[in-house]
Amino acid sequence: MRHPSTAAIRLADYRPADFAIDSVELDFALNPTKTRVSARLALRRNPAGDSSAPLVLDGDELMLLGVKLDGRTLGPGKYEATQDRLTLAEVPDAPFTLEIDTELNPSGNTQLSGLYRSGSAYCTQCEAEGFRRITYFLDRPDVLSVYTTRIEAEKSEAPILLSNGNPIEHGDVAGSNRHYALWRDPFPKPSYLFALVGGDLGVVRDEFTTMSGRVVDLAIYVEHGKESRAAYAMDALKRSMRWDEEKFGREYDLDVFNIVAVSDFNMGAMENKGLNIFNDKYVLASPDTATDGDYAGIEGVIAHEYFHNWTGNRITCRDWFQLCLKEGLTVFRDQEFSADMRSRAVERIGDVRGLRLAQFPEDAGPLAHPVRPDVYQEINNFYTATVYEKGAEIIRMLRTLIGEDDFRRGMDLYFERFDGTAATVEDFLSCFAAASGRDLTHFALWYSQAGTPVVTTSGDYDPAARTFALKLSQQTPPTPGQSDKKPVVIPLALALFGENGQKLDLVSEDATPTELARGLIELDRAERVIRFREIPSRPVVSLLRGFSAPVRLEPAPASEDLERLLACDDDPFNRWQASQSLALRAIFGRLETGALDARGLSEALRLLLAKAEDDPALVAQALSLPSDIDLAREKGNDVDPDQLFDARMALRAEIGRSLGSELDAIHARFSAAGAFTPDAASAGRRALRNVTLDVLAAGDAEKGRSLATAQFETAGNMTDKLAALATLALLGGHAREEAFARFYAQYAGDALVIDKWFSLQAMIPEQATTQRVLGLMTHREFSMSNPNRVRALIGAFANGNLTRFHALDGSGYDLLTAVVLEVDPKNPQVSARLLSALRSWRTMESRRRGLIEARLKHIVAQENLSADLRDIATRALG
Ligand code: PHE
Ligand code: ZN
Repeated sequence: MRHPSTAAIRLADYRPADFAIDSVELDFALNPTKTRVSARLALRRNPAGDSSAPLVLDGDELMLLGVKLDGRTLGPGKYEATQDRLTLAEVPDAPFTLEIDTELNPSGNTQLSGLYRSGSAYCTQCEAEGFRRITYFLDRPDVLSVYTTRIEAEKSEAPILLSNGNPIEHGDVAGSNRHYALWRDPFPKPSYLFALVGGDLGVVRDEFTTMSGRVVDLAIYVEHGKESRAAYAMDALKRSMRWDEEKFGREYDLDVFNIVAVSDFNMGAMENKGLNIFNDKYVLASPDTATDGDYAGIEGVIAHEYFHNWTGNRITCRDWFQLCLKEGLTVFRDQEFSADMRSRAVERIGDVRGLRLAQFPEDAGPLAHPVRPDVYQEINNFYTATVYEKGAEIIRMLRTLIGEDDFRRGMDLYFERFDGTAATVEDFLSCFAAASGRDLTHFALWYSQAGTPVVTTSGDYDPAARTFALKLSQQTPPTPGQSDKKPVVIPLALALFGENGQKLDLVSEDATPTELARGLIELDRAERVIRFREIPSRPVVSLLRGFSAPVRLEPAPASEDLERLLACDDDPFNRWQASQSLALRAIFGRLETGALDARGLSEALRLLLAKAEDDPALVAQALSLPSDIDLAREKGNDVDPDQLFDARMALRAEIGRSLGSELDAIHARFSAAGAFTPDAASAGRRALRNVTLDVLAAGDAEKGRSLATAQFETAGNMTDKLAALATLALLGGHAREEAFARFYAQYAGDALVIDKWFSLQAMIPEQATTQRVLGLMTHREFSMSNPNRVRALIGAFANGNLTRFHALDGSGYDLLTAVVLEVDPKNPQVSARLLSALRSWRTMESRRRGLIEARLKHIVAQENLSADLRDIATRALG
């Protein structure tokens, strides 16, 4: 077990490495329990480092076999080796080589960090600090080296041998049943981008001709028999490569690009240079096994990892505090790619939904941290929604503020100036300051100040003067370690609409001509009042259009204004926002008064349904009412999930009843015809049809049950089948159990599909679910060692079933606690992430808060916690 480090690591303490490692030659002799690694490092003192410092290399659970310096074996007195450190007090001043032999047990590596096994294959995961589990090294992102990797293995066990870069040579090892492959990556890279794969895998091949005419061989390696399920991923890869050329002028730089799908993986995927390793969930898809959501996820993650080749690999991070430099930027790039491939408006709504679901709660609770943190205990715990998704929002705001042209010129400058280096957020921003001529010092506060700003608005119309005074103010709530907040630069996209829905010209002396022309107000201080002139009647304000900044707006516009916006706003995001705000208003109205008034929302939705053909995906989004998590976040404190759930169900049922015939007609009209295609237009039609089924069933259970049963039986694709099963899961009774049994019988053994079966059951909002989940934990297809299984069953229960997880008898918390403590010794990254399900515990009402606090204290009191889990539990208690 990794030693729980107690020392905090601080950005302020950053120092360059004392040594540089120019080249690394690795030789792996793969064996299930005794893999031998020989590393030959070309070292020299770093002129920027301390010239008298000893050489201290990082390790983690390593078994050292021997060390040689400049070819001579070092006696034990010449170095000091522990499992997690190799120290040489004296080394030559001139460049020298160090040869280090270690022995690894990949089969026993349950953390899935370093060299491990997934099924019978060997694979690696080195970000953030996994390389030190392979050999002693300066395992930090600012040490860049050229890698040559030789892999040797038994031919039958591992006919495929892959590493980073280009293939140089391969052949048999004379006099044995072993063979080898030699790979060389000419691009200097940090150790976290190293990768190796060995195994008996199926492959799909293709090629891509780059913009300068070079032919790149593409390959996706999957489990034998799953090759046909990699076709969509391959298509997405080629589209990503083209898009990065067209949108950012970025060309691929090696002769080959390999992707390997494995079924045991802690995260989504990893951008290792030239050898991306994926959670197979983000590679494998067929109409029969993957939903439209899965297809979109694959497209996005394939693009994300590919885009890292420039934003992450060619330009990497100086230190892990700069993680958002590669992640926020690359998320922004994959979001833009998906927007270009699909519907820009639907993509934006989905991205904002995701941000509010995961990042806003994180930013409002005890785990809140700046997009660029300044201190951490365990870096694995900072691969967060804040670093990724809020990080992407900062890039988006930057583009909004300086405009597309300057943004593109800033990106070009960034690639030009920092290619081949390990950069910082300051380096990045300096390029945009240069390209736009704008001082970005104040804007940079977004990186260092945590918490979601609240923008408060009020409008005052003066009919005599025909003026409309819009008062805008901002306030960021305190977060751990940051009690006083400064105003940030908030780009607020804005439009005013007149009585007949016409867009009004923006005329004012209180804003700059550029602000008025662009409809973009920059709120860069605590408060601004803008008096608009020549306003014929009280206008409706469309603010934060396209969600132009990651802030909360207060208060929501009045209901009649929301209804007007739904009808006239030409910003599709704000039309959708208006439907959500109306739904929230109805739900919270019922919570306060006990009476449900959903007329405004129903009528608005009726109008949308009448025009459903125009943009089915957008209408589907409007019909998707806020979730329990949305409601808990909006409530903010004293959350009682049972009350929120009841109010939400009441609204769904009411909409289902009042729009019954319209929904029925849509469900019939949008029924699938012809073969399944995963494109956005077809997916949008399915989304609309399936959300109508959901709402319809809420209003009329009998009808819902018969429609869902029929759809379940006849569905020609997983999207429709799973949607029907989800509806049946909510309706309960014999039909549900029958459907779950048949689904299992059909897909038994297909792990990714069975994950969906686990998740849907874990999310049934009924008392018996906790028992059901405990039962499923003993199911033959469940495994505590596989992250996808644990997330599908336990993650879905803790994050997607608020009423059961927060049951007042504490049974949901007990379940999570037991699983977290069971998983922790095997896989700390997974246990720590699971426990983050409690990140909003202080917003619960007092009884539940007490129950959770007791569990967190129980966890912290355990002796052998991993550093990862201890860090989350301790910060959660705060
Ligand atoms: N860097 C990976 C990504 O964003 C995520 C990751 C982090 C994967 C750590 C594994 C380990 O694409
Ligand atoms: Zn990434």
